[in-house]
Amino acid sequence: MSDQQNVYPVRDDFAANAWVDKTKYTAMYQQSMDDPEGFWAEQAKRLDWIKPPSNIKNTSFARDNVDIRWFEDGLLNVSANCLDRHLDKRGDQTAIIWEGDDPKDSKHITYRELYTRTNQLANALKELGVGKGDTVTLYMPMIPEAAMAMLACARIGAVHSVVFGGFSPDAVAQRVIGADSKLVITADESVRGGKHVPLKENVDAALTREGTDVCKNVLVVKRTGGEIDWNDGRDIWFDELVDQQSGECEAEPMGAEDPLFILYTSGSTGAPKGLKHTSGGYLLYAAMTHQYVFDYHEGEVYWCSADVGWVTGHSYIVYGPLANGATTLMFEGVPSYPTHGRLGEIVDKHKVNILYTAPTAVRALMAHGDNVMDSSKRDSLRLLGSVGEPINPEAWEWFYRVIGNEQCPIVDTWWQTETGGIMITPLPGATPLKPGSATTAFFGVKPALVDNEGHLLEGATEGNLVILDSWPGQARSIWGDHERFIQTYFSAYEGMYFTGDGCRRDEDGYYWITGRVDDVLNVSGHRMGTAEIESSLVAHSAVAEAAVVGFPHDIKGQGIYIYVTLGDGIEASDELKKELTQWVRKDIGPIASPDIIQWAPGLPKTRSGKIMRRILRKIAANECDGLGDTSTLADPSVVDELIEHRANQ
Ligand code: PRX
Repeated sequence: MSDQQNVYPVRDDFAANAWVDKTKYTAMYQQSMDDPEGFWAEQAKRLDWIKPPSNIKNTSFARDNVDIRWFEDGLLNVSANCLDRHLDKRGDQTAIIWEGDDPKDSKHITYRELYTRTNQLANALKELGVGKGDTVTLYMPMIPEAAMAMLACARIGAVHSVVFGGFSPDAVAQRVIGADSKLVITADESVRGGKHVPLKENVDAALTREGTDVCKNVLVVKRTGGEIDWNDGRDIWFDELVDQQSGECEAEPMGAEDPLFILYTSGSTGAPKGLKHTSGGYLLYAAMTHQYVFDYHEGEVYWCSADVGWVTGHSYIVYGPLANGATTLMFEGVPSYPTHGRLGEIVDKHKVNILYTAPTAVRALMAHGDNVMDSSKRDSLRLLGSVGEPINPEAWEWFYRVIGNEQCPIVDTWWQTETGGIMITPLPGATPLKPGSATTAFFGVKPALVDNEGHLLEGATEGNLVILDSWPGQARSIWGDHERFIQTYFSAYEGMYFTGDGCRRDEDGYYWITGRVDDVLNVSGHRMGTAEIESSLVAHSAVAEAAVVGFPHDIKGQGIYIYVTLGDGIEASDELKKELTQWVRKDIGPIASPDIIQWAPGLPKTRSGKIMRRILRKIAANECDGLGDTSTLADPSVVDELIEHRANQ
């Protein structure tokens, strides 16, 4: 229980210099609840508006009318907020520090350089016929051109859809079609941990799929110079086109509710859904959370180790930090290459003050023992952050003690692709920390716990995490499918946004996220739908049926456990397991790699044919004694068989 946990009080020296201390947090939070319109109208002044908004909040979570609009009559341009307005004061300040996969590769890009290159790219996009409202798919390595591409789209009012560079050609194709993208921006190859990933080849393969002929051009950054095929008339070298453009491109005035980007994420059913984020509210929320949660001060070096393919990279590598005129570090590689000391070495090399990373990275380092950090001092660090999955208290303590030298508060930030920015989090100058708890709500966020019938639960308790009112960073819809948006998030509990997470609240009102309560897995902080992996498997000719569940994994948080029923006459073999593993990797991407495949002669089903995942999860976790009631199963004997096979793993 929480009261037996270590509590880390706010350090006086930290609170004295922080943007927000306890008194200020209480007052601001209260104001954000009592007078949301007044609170957000004031906060909106942190952005540069072409036309300041007068209509602040217009939102409804009612099932029959889910409609979310913020700052509706305001006009702004997101890229101008991230670039132009910094030129006078900090044109020569570093905007992006790029650290390559190879420790010898790094470079600094000033705000002025980023401005000019982004403007050139924006002009290049126009030359390719991309304009306001068009969508562009980005499938890129962690290189500055990725940030430039996002900002260039924003500059001309195009909508970007970034696809994580680890996804397969099919996943790229699905997203190009879903977003109706006329352009894909990619690179010849990406480099991670010394290995080259053939991005262009994957795009070539993706664009052979039916329905992708909407895509007319592929803009290719030369990252490695590796050999690639070339499709004349479609493919264009990035530098060749961009170099010849003017460095000035007028920023398109955009409505606050015009879309800024689409980002695909997995749900419990169906294909991944493209969440739609809009311009004004999103940018304001990303910037404000970046300033307060990371207590960002002018001149500091800030490093978020996520990939731009995920929402964390959007909000906390690119938009939040750049809107605040910060120096943001972008790392191409992985923390384990060339050695496990790399993370700390990067901190020392660039004098990083704030480090935001994922529990899985912390646990992977922790597994190598305390000495793994011996090659660095990390004495520039002032604050640490965690995101993506629950951080177990042991990993939290190790992060604090070994990486942070017991000098840095840790902000454990809970949020989602759908929320656009951080929702439940400590503010380091205001909130005493409890390892493993994301603590309390950010300004304007109204979390609550409900039981399965939607009754609000009070006090110290456990339940389903919902949010009771809108906040500016919230996704507005699912691209092209508002009905699915309503079904997924607003149909379970009337008038509330359902997060899909389970959560405990302790006697101090601190929130402890317990993980997903739906069929979504969180593997190394990557979100994946069990249904997606299952449908990939059943597309293999040997597979009659498949069920996918998560199981506790020391490093990844959750691993992928697959039960497979083979078709009639198909022989089970280790070769077939390997083949199925490759199949899923190829179909979805390496992040969906199965950890364990178990042959299942039958799956536990109710008499109406529904697979009882609860039982499969227990068997996968090796908790076979607590299976609960199996009497409603059509054939309870399949359970014994599965347990017996489990023992043989
Ligand atoms: O289950 C929660 C978990 O990650 C999910 C959201 O995943 P995604 O949309 O990919 O965004 C990840 C980065 C924001 C949530 O529903 N999650 C995220 N942060 C935390 C977390 N679980 C516990 N603690 C966190 N700090």
